[in-house]
Amino acid sequence: MKNTFYITTPIYYPSNKLTLGNSYTTILADCLARFFRMQGKDVFYLTGTDEHGQKIEKVAASENKTEMEYLNEIVADAKKLWQMLDISYDKFIRTTDEYHVKTVQKIFKKLYDLGEIYKSTYRGLYCTPCESFWTEEQLIDGKCPDCGRPVEPMEEEAYFFRLSKYQDKILDLYTKNPNFLRPTSRVNEMVNNFIKPGLKDLCVSRTSVKWGIPVDFDPKHTIYVWIDALPNYLTALGYLQSDDSNFKKFWPCDVHIVGKEIVRFHAIIWPAILMALNLPLPKQIYGHGWLLFGEGKLSKSKAVDKKEVIDPRVLVSRYGLDSVRLFLIKEIVFGQDGPYNQELFLNSYNTNLANEYGNLISRSCGIAQKYLGGILNPAGELEQTDLDFKAEILSKRKTVFEQMEDINPTGALNTIFEMFSKCNKYIDETAPWALFKQNNLTRINSVLTTLSEAIIITNTLLLPFLTDKPKTIYANWGLSEPIRLDDYANFGFLKTNTIVTKGENLYARLDVKKELEELTILASRA
Ligand code: ME8
Ligand code: MG
Repeated sequence: MKNTFYITTPIYYPSNKLTLGNSYTTILADCLARFFRMQGKDVFYLTGTDEHGQKIEKVAASENKTEMEYLNEIVADAKKLWQMLDISYDKFIRTTDEYHVKTVQKIFKKLYDLGEIYKSTYRGLYCTPCESFWTEEQLIDGKCPDCGRPVEPMEEEAYFFRLSKYQDKILDLYTKNPNFLRPTSRVNEMVNNFIKPGLKDLCVSRTSVKWGIPVDFDPKHTIYVWIDALPNYLTALGYLQSDDSNFKKFWPCDVHIVGKEIVRFHAIIWPAILMALNLPLPKQIYGHGWLLFGEGKLSKSKAVDKKEVIDPRVLVSRYGLDSVRLFLIKEIVFGQDGPYNQELFLNSYNTNLANEYGNLISRSCGIAQKYLGGILNPAGELEQTDLDFKAEILSKRKTVFEQMEDINPTGALNTIFEMFSKCNKYIDETAPWALFKQNNLTRINSVLTTLSEAIIITNTLLLPFLTDKPKTIYANWGLSEPIRLDDYANFGFLKTNTIVTKGENLYARLDVKKELEELTILASRA
């Protein structure tokens, strides 16, 4: 069995603000990377920044900075945010990195030599003040979508990639490999909206854009957008470079995680480029949905201001990292759009973290202290209730693995919370307080051992998802933090005379009404 796993996020545009939206992609990819790593796979998780294009040129100029000054600041901010969000990337690629620039030039040349790229004339609608070409469909009321001024037809010399040639091959790819693009609804979107109407050759260079990678054999041309950005998935591994050991080890990619608006580039243009280069295709493109803010399906919470930009840093510093990762992974169904608002966020924290999970930990350790003086001894015959409970925990544990294998982190995290819910129910069913009244200490010991082990087994699955508090609870049972998911895979690991301590309260319950007011004040200051 192949034991490597290569997972990527899109490289983000530094001219976009760092918000909960781009944190979403990065956190979702992170929990997958962590899970497979803890499963014992050799994981390579790639993320980074997409630093070329006219927009960067303009923003930097408007701030009186050179492009690199501007970019270095944003990249530093992004790295700081990823650190705050516990993003465990193995490599951070910048498209301005020299190895990327050189390799993109080599790829461009290779495609040109193969006849896959040719020189022709680009015809489009040009906005002179913005120095930008637009297509008919991009215009707003027939005007430039950026500045609203009139556009005029213009032509310039440009290079084109023979995308049209790959029309049938891409269709064939979707048919033969239904898992290539997921969720499957996105396949119809691609086929009906883009492939059936006909793929046109793609313009891959511009003479009007300066901030970018020059075509080395024709330097008045700058390599345009996607043929610079998409190959980052190859260049980061050392493709066409002196040390290509990572390329040999990790390519083809196991999954490219991308937002739904860029599925088209990843599921049509990218495989076509790879086919042209004669390289194996990625195994899967996963197009996730959008976090929707303040519009659409949202409940009519008064604290939600449409202009509000949700800063993940505010949420993390006020409520801890687990709350943010939990909301994004569990409450937004992976693959679909989902609403964000502060009230949903705060309620999710209370329901899942304070009540279901945090309370289970403190309750279980509290019971051991109250009735057993904090000393736990695996003892006694198990009853049917215990055996059923154990079987259920182990069967759900298996489900979590299947769901992660299927790139379904939302489903997996829901299953984990079902396991915690079973644990809470098991306490109610076995009623240790009643056993205490009967002075049945043997039974309390066996119930609490079973319960403690179920919690630890479940908690271990939780570590890739919530990276802050859950790792601290092992100490409550004098256990060490696991490195592998299999470190606590089955019942029977607690030793005689296990000392149980209560530990800190993991998540304080929030007063939702008060917090909504606080967040409104914080947002108005930002
Ligand atoms: O597209 N909900 O970069 P980008 C969910 N540079 N995801 C969101 C979101 C939201 N509200 N807002 C942003 C690019 N994202 C290109 C990629 S790859 C070779 C080049 C996600 O900064 C978005 O869907 O516009 C995308 O996956 C990621 O943030 C980066 O977007
Ligand atoms: Mg975008």
